[in-house]
Amino acid sequence: MANVAIIGAQWGDEGKGKVVDWLASRADIVVRFQGGHNAGHTLVVGNQTYKLSLLPSGVVRGKLGIIGNGVVLDPEALLSEISRVRGQGLDVGPHNLRIAENVPLILPLHPAIDKAREEARGEAKIGTTGRGIGPAYEDKVARRAIRLCDLAEPETLSAKLDELLLHHNTLLKGLGAATFEKQALLDGLVALAPKLLPYAEAVWERLDGARHANKRVLFEGAQAVMLDVDHGTYPFVTSSNTVAGNAAAGSGIGPHGIGTVLGIAKAYTTRVGSGPFPTELFDDVGKRLGERGREFGTVTGRPRRCGWFDACLVRQAVKVGGVQGLALTKLDVLDGLTELKICTGYDIDGEVVKRLPAALGAQAKAKPIYEVLEGWSQSTMGARSWAELPATAIKYVKRIEELVEAPVTLLSTSPERDDTILVSDPFAG
Ligand code: GDP
Ligand code: IMO
Ligand code: MG
Repeated sequence: MANVAIIGAQWGDEGKGKVVDWLASRADIVVRFQGGHNAGHTLVVGNQTYKLSLLPSGVVRGKLGIIGNGVVLDPEALLSEISRVRGQGLDVGPHNLRIAENVPLILPLHPAIDKAREEARGEAKIGTTGRGIGPAYEDKVARRAIRLCDLAEPETLSAKLDELLLHHNTLLKGLGAATFEKQALLDGLVALAPKLLPYAEAVWERLDGARHANKRVLFEGAQAVMLDVDHGTYPFVTSSNTVAGNAAAGSGIGPHGIGTVLGIAKAYTTRVGSGPFPTELFDDVGKRLGERGREFGTVTGRPRRCGWFDACLVRQAVKVGGVQGLALTKLDVLDGLTELKICTGYDIDGEVVKRLPAALGAQAKAKPIYEVLEGWSQSTMGARSWAELPATAIKYVKRIEELVEAPVTLLSTSPERDDTILVSDPFAG
């Protein structure tokens, strides 16, 4: 089975949506396996721009989309996204979108807790998207989540909500935030049932069928390795495993079904929210990257922090994520810079270290060690072949390949779907 899993190799927003949309032409099914509507994936096709958060990016190509059990699903957010993209002319419904019946739901109390906790943290806030992602995953592992399949058993919902509210209202009261009434939540869930249940199924069974029929499955990661709850810059991370390994558990396919792992990285680095960022730039170059790259969060509109490409960090993401090929995006944003820097390691208390340490204190001390490369004055914007790239740009890409220890298999040179250079087809295995 020639499947491909796409994951972010930095701190998110690397252009996963664009790459998934581009590769979806070669796939039959596109599967989301973790995260929720904290993700924001922008796809540009001709004069249409699609902003997707929960819908697998394959829907734009008319491919079958699957939301796996590893996602946390906000029903209201899903329904409004479906109606928004329908308004843009896309056909999305139960015939081409299937949702794991065992997916945990995000209820209105989850964003409330998320925001109240962030407020209480003050300066130490994580900078979450405020969408209730963390609290919903906490409820899942605490075994008190309400799942999509529970909507088919309305008689059980009242007792489930009692347990949920016992926990959350106590917390909300302690935080000085408004509490929730059971009846309103119950009525909301009962009203959602007929809208959502037509999408629900045992997606593991469909994926098993796809395997037998030799269908090609594309797993679409959200967030990125440095936001992974285990491997990222904890606690400044999201609440799910973003590495490709989770594509198996998060969709109900065995580990052999994941296929080739493609990591997506920008030709520089960005981050939204708080947390360590060794190569962050506070000067005019950082400002320029933000402006040229239009670095504003798709979900929250916050300006993204910008910095030089950190090869040390991406190498680490390649190793823990099992990345076999790298898609390098936004090369065009570097156009016109005379000099480029790549971080090859960190100086920590005078010692050269080739990985980002796990502890926050040590991370804060990590001073990037830079290699300086020559930039290019020509435009690479919209290039669709290596021949259109200046020699210094090719040199920059080749150096990244060496340092991160993974081949660049795809290059992206503008937001537009077709401004992409394919080096080797990940579906070829
Ligand atoms: P994702 O979360 O990884 O899907 O990435 P986002 O969609 O949040 O952010 C990436 C942004 O960069 C989007 O606005 C894309 O349209 C844009 N983009 C993607 N690839 C390129 C590229 O090669 N060049 C430029 N200039 N923009 C790109
Ligand atoms: P895509 O899929 C960039 C960040 C938030 C915050 C941290 C925790 O578009 O790459 P959360 O709401 O998940 O509890 O927030 O994770 N974050 C993202 N940053 N891109 C994303 O998704 C992100 N999803 C979450 O900014 O720092
Ligand atoms: Mg994004």
